[in-house]
Amino acid sequence: MNSLGKSIFLVLFLEAALSNCDDEKTYNTPCKRLTYTIRNQVQAPTFEYSLEIPFCNQSFIRIMERAVDENANYRFTATYFPSWGYFIDAINGVKGFYTVNQTWWQFLKAPDSMLPVGVSYYYPDDGDHIIFNFIQAGGH
Ligand SMILES: *[C@@H]1O[C@H](CO)[C@@H](O)[C@H](O)[C@H]1NC(C)=O
Ligand SMILES: *[C@@H]1O[C@H](CO)[C@@H](O)[C@H](O)[C@H]1NC(C)=O
Repeated sequence: MNSLGKSIFLVLFLEAALSNCDDEKTYNTPCKRLTYTIRNQVQAPTFEYSLEIPFCNQSFIRIMERAVDENANYRFTATYFPSWGYFIDAINGVKGFYTVNQTWWQFLKAPDSMLPVGVSYYYPDDGDHIIFNFIQAGGH
């Protein structure tokens, strides 16, 4: 791992450690629930998983962490950008290569509305169905 990789890893690790206290509280008194689906029908092996997750006024990145605790298929890697927050690089080992073959992870509210903000700034509503959908732009 290069030093950039190390510092990103450290940041993710610290984030996870810090958020655990809050999460403990909200997990015990969840005020809302949502459904979180990850779907890849582009590259073998294809997959689609859905989880119901309890939460309480948290940005979606926190819910993604909760999902990993519940089911290892939801593991993800992310890069942190100042003022923009986390950008999701890969989910369940599948990484977008936009410049190579126009593949990327779309962040959607079901059935197919693109969310206007990233995972760090999206605060889901009760009953939301959020989808990370791996796609490849047309022409390939
Ligand atoms: C939810 O959290 C955000 C960020 O901490 C805060 O700005 C907002 O007021 C909170 N909303 C409620 C309903 O607690
Ligand atoms: C896109 O490119 C990456 C990197 O070369 C490759 O691993 C992946 O399989 C490609 N995906 C598709 C759908 O062509």
